[in-house]
Amino acid sequence: MVYHYSKNEYDFYGAELYANPYPFYDKLRAKYPVHLDSYFGCWVVTTYEDVVAAFANRDLSSERAEGGALLRQEGWKELQPLFAHIANLMFYADAPKHTQIRALINKAFSARMMETWRDRVQQIVNEQLDLVQDQHHMELIHDLAQELPLQTISDMLGIPPQDRTRFKQWSDDLAYFLGNAPTLEKCTQLMQSMNEFMDYFRGIVEEHRAHPRDNIVSALLLAEEQGVTLTEDELLINCVGIFVGGHETTTNLIGNGLLALLQNPQQLQILRNDSSLIKSAIEELLRYDSPVQFTARIAKATTQIRGKKIYKGQKVMLMLGAANHDPQQFQEPNRLDVSRHENRHLAFGGNVHYCIGAALARIEGQIAINTILRRMPQIQLTSSPLEWQENLSYHGLKALPLTF
Ligand code: HEM
Repeated sequence: MVYHYSKNEYDFYGAELYANPYPFYDKLRAKYPVHLDSYFGCWVVTTYEDVVAAFANRDLSSERAEGGALLRQEGWKELQPLFAHIANLMFYADAPKHTQIRALINKAFSARMMETWRDRVQQIVNEQLDLVQDQHHMELIHDLAQELPLQTISDMLGIPPQDRTRFKQWSDDLAYFLGNAPTLEKCTQLMQSMNEFMDYFRGIVEEHRAHPRDNIVSALLLAEEQGVTLTEDELLINCVGIFVGGHETTTNLIGNGLLALLQNPQQLQILRNDSSLIKSAIEELLRYDSPVQFTARIAKATTQIRGKKIYKGQKVMLMLGAANHDPQQFQEPNRLDVSRHENRHLAFGGNVHYCIGAALARIEGQIAINTILRRMPQIQLTSSPLEWQENLSYHGLKALPLTF
């Protein structure tokens, strides 16, 4: 495979990285495990050990969304409210603000609460597969992988079915921001989407205040009554964060996961022969082709990673996908092994920002893949070339056509 690097052979650049970044990560990890990338203008960290240490390093902050130098540039000033909203997302907050928001949302995402969604998840998977079963072909991303998290998270947030498609554009705009270098045009579009998103949730929250239901929004409002308080903007933007966080990512787990199984027929057969392996299989699929390839931090004091000085104000990209293929941590990391035992992958991040929706994503992934394998024993890829989303962090397919 040929990469088209920019100035430096080891910079991120080139569409091939959307499809398969792992050979590039292997080179980077071996030669420059911590390296200053001129395409992104920030540090790139690729070993498992360094990524885990970075999650625990208090000098590396999540408060990276303030817009900083960007807002001083021509045309950007009007985008100040966008960055103020984004700074209220728990992804982008440090203690004490992060601790407070997380405490509130943890209550709504308790393990008990998540288990109550198992039957509903199975029902959505069944209904979606019923729609295509007789035609013997489907496009997995559209027919199931987007619909399942969309419907689950919409139910959890009390969004009525007729409103759900409006969310796609808003959600895509935010996902683009999370996975790419911001441009004025994209941020302007995102600000409009964000305002619409927040106005919409304002209505949803008001409705739940008047008529509580058995869902996350009511759980958040109940926790609020019990003393954990957020401002209205903090509550609304974090509903947006839950919606987006739980959407693209789970779509990509199901899409990348089924693709990996179909490309590794022996492993697929092992799982077919013993469906109780589904739990270890989902962990392995999360590791093998991670839905989120990197997250970022910003140095709030000068610090060091593997002897490299990271100056205050510099950004650091923590390459989860590269860490998940580190041979120092995983035996034969580039091999898919659905029964892998030692698998402390970083697909859900680590430390205090560890993904709050991990239990839900696991339930959705396990039920989706197991049900497909059970109902569609002849499932296979078609000859259509695969197209990947143009997003270096949110790693997933545009479409996955299948026959069965
Ligand atoms: C396979 C699916 C998923 C993957 C791979 C994933 C990945 C991640 C990662 C890597 C982080 C840490 C980010 C950081 O430290 O900077 C994270 C945090 C988060 N995720 Fe997920 N996620 C998934 C599903 C979900 C779901 C289903 C939800 C909600 C329903 C969700 C909501 C969140 C939220 C709100 C945070 C922020 C937590 C915090 O800052 O404390 N995610 N996720």
